Amino acid sequence: MVTPPSPAAPDWEQVVHALLKWFAGSARDLPWRRTTDPYAIWISEVMLQQTQVRTVIPYWERWMRELPTTGSLASAPAETVLKLWEGLGYYSRARNLQKAAVQIQATAEGRFPTAHEAILELPGIGPYTAGAIASIAYNQPTPILDGNIIRVLTRLEGLAGDPKSAVVQSALWSRSAELVTRASELPRRRTPLPPAPIQLSGPCSALNQSLMELGATHCTPARPNCAACPISRECQAFAMGTPEAFPQTAPRPTTMSRHLATLLWEHKGRWLLLRRPENGINEGLWEFPNIECGSAESAPDAAARWLSIPSARLTPSGKVTNAITRFRYTQHLFRISGAPGDAKLPAGSEWVPFATLAQIPMSGSHRRIAKRHLPTET
Ligand code: ADE
Repeated sequence: MVTPPSPAAPDWEQVVHALLKWFAGSARDLPWRRTTDPYAIWISEVMLQQTQVRTVIPYWERWMRELPTTGSLASAPAETVLKLWEGLGYYSRARNLQKAAVQIQATAEGRFPTAHEAILELPGIGPYTAGAIASIAYNQPTPILDGNIIRVLTRLEGLAGDPKSAVVQSALWSRSAELVTRASELPRRRTPLPPAPIQLSGPCSALNQSLMELGATHCTPARPNCAACPISRECQAFAMGTPEAFPQTAPRPTTMSRHLATLLWEHKGRWLLLRRPENGINEGLWEFPNIECGSAESAPDAAARWLSIPSARLTPSGKVTNAITRFRYTQHLFRISGAPGDAKLPAGSEWVPFATLAQIPMSGSHRRIAKRHLPTET
């Protein structure tokens, strides 16, 4: 049992040293840690936003097999890119990766930029991702701040206030910059690095990744494992006995329910699908026709209204729920079969052969529906 210390400001030099030592001995052997290729690291960092390491590993491996370089990403068909991303959500990230790759290919050398400011200018790359790439690929002392690191740093300092507020954000970015700068200034003998097969570009990479690692493994939102934490001696929240009280995040907005009628219409070995329009959510992904129900409208009525068919043609087939940001969607599934006849098919809809369904990119909820409800889907 580690005894909480009495509250006092953390000794930052001690924090950096303890983090580096811990990371050298405990870093997980993750596939993107076996390389310092900025392209590979960029892809991993974008995939890891809002997605757990366990889920990302197979996606990253498949992506790197199929699109191993910026050039291959720049010239890939957009549908291939979306298909490789299918299931990760936030599909604009995949489109931005390709836009950025095209931009990189258009520069003089066609090589991934090395300057932090140039990385930051690429589409879809914000301060966190730019800092992560520059530190991990090039060992630059660039700070990073994401949900995991906000948790680690607010606890360490016992920092009160909403972590989204400008004042707390500014304090956290400064602290993150101070830590990585301290790591860059340490003499070599004080910067242990993890052993092969992990390849790290240097102490800035190790320090930033140790913060990510600590937030993901020990300094978790609920029931943090302070007993195993390498910096609990320096941690103010631990000293106060209330680690879970930090960060002092503002309450989330209440969730809102939305209901949709989702049509599984089969005709002559094909399913009716729609491709999401440009410049909207899930652009370019395919989905089953989805009709939002009015506030006082039943799902069959919404579907019948939209298609101009009698609701008696619809066979209810259960429902699925899905939470996205603050919305909770319930999709009420209906099967229809037979020729469209007088039905008014939605603009942009197409009859897609069974065999093609597995090859086209679909959003997570529609792919799950296809897998569970269409016997022909593989
Ligand atoms: N989360 C975000 N970036 C990460 C990384 N490089 N390794 C592990 N988890 C992460």
